[in-house]
Amino acid sequence: MVTGAAGGLGRAIAAALHADGWPVLLTDLDAEAVAVAAAPLGGWSRALDVRDEAACAAVADEAAAEAAARGARGGLGLWVNNAGILVTGPSWEQDAATRRRVVEVNALGAMNGTLAALAVMRAQGHGHVLNVVSLAGLVAAPGETVYAASKHALVAFSIGTLADLRLAGHRRVHVSCLCPDGIWTPMLHDRLDDPGAAASFTGTLLSPELVARRAARLARRPRPVVSVPRWRGAQVRLFDAMPGVALRLAPLILAAGRAGQRRQLRRTGADQHRRNPAR
Ligand SMILES: NC(=O)c1ccc[n+]([C@@H]2O[C@H](COP(=O)([O-])OP(=O)(O)OC[C@H]3O[C@@H](n4cnc5c(N)ncnc54)[C@H](O)[C@@H]3O)[C@@H](O)[C@H]2O)c1
Repeated sequence: MVTGAAGGLGRAIAAALHADGWPVLLTDLDAEAVAVAAAPLGGWSRALDVRDEAACAAVADEAAAEAAARGARGGLGLWVNNAGILVTGPSWEQDAATRRRVVEVNALGAMNGTLAALAVMRAQGHGHVLNVVSLAGLVAAPGETVYAASKHALVAFSIGTLADLRLAGHRRVHVSCLCPDGIWTPMLHDRLDDPGAAASFTGTLLSPELVARRAARLARRPRPVVSVPRWRGAQVRLFDAMPGVALRLAPLILAAGRAGQRRQLRRTGADQHRRNPAR
């Protein structure tokens, strides 16, 4: 089961899981787009707004029942909380409704999904919740402040829930966090001129397929926190441990991000020109 699977990383994760032999249920806010995405991946899709707690629970029950009907011994084996939204700019420029929406989708939505899946998985005695976070869940990201706050909440919730599962004796129910660097998906496609999104371009821009392959590997071997690429996880954790240093370096780091945006603009411009030389 993958949320936010109509496009971007969610669709790529669903495809990687399908290629790995998982029967995959694709869900998204956009029912039509997710049905199109699911067509080549077994055709199993549902509309789901992750902000709706009852709807998440209903989908978890349906997925478990369907797995049982298919004779899958695993029941509901994997739930991927991937749905997310990004709003950029200083926090003081975002109104209360915007801040609420970001936290509701990225943090509370993933909590809804995690708890819906855990209700089934704790009963069946095994299962894995894979939460798609971001490097912004490990370090403050200037320009993406509210987004980063929502992702920090998700990391704390995931690791804390995993500890609570172990303390309660659930040794075969896992929670993992996947923390990728910037990924070239629709989330970033129209942000090459947006200085608020520079933090997403400070490293190597990843392809959704590469991150999806890492997610599929993580699905088989759960780990509490996995960064993609690994060295960036180590780097941002160092900045997180030294906020004074990170603050002084912020202008330099964001200048590197602006350069990354310009590089990507040149790359996409060249691609468009190759596809349509007349324009
Ligand atoms: N693109 C990046 O640079 C990047 C980097 C790190 C982490 N991430 C995370 O990866 C995940 C996927 O992002 P993406 O880059 O594919 O973004 P995207 O915008 O391309 O896709 C997000 C999908 O989530 C769906 N969605 C939005 N709100 C929803 C809701 N309330 N309920 C259900 N579905 C909803 C959208 O319809 C869309 O299909 C997000 O959690 C994002 O924070 C993205």
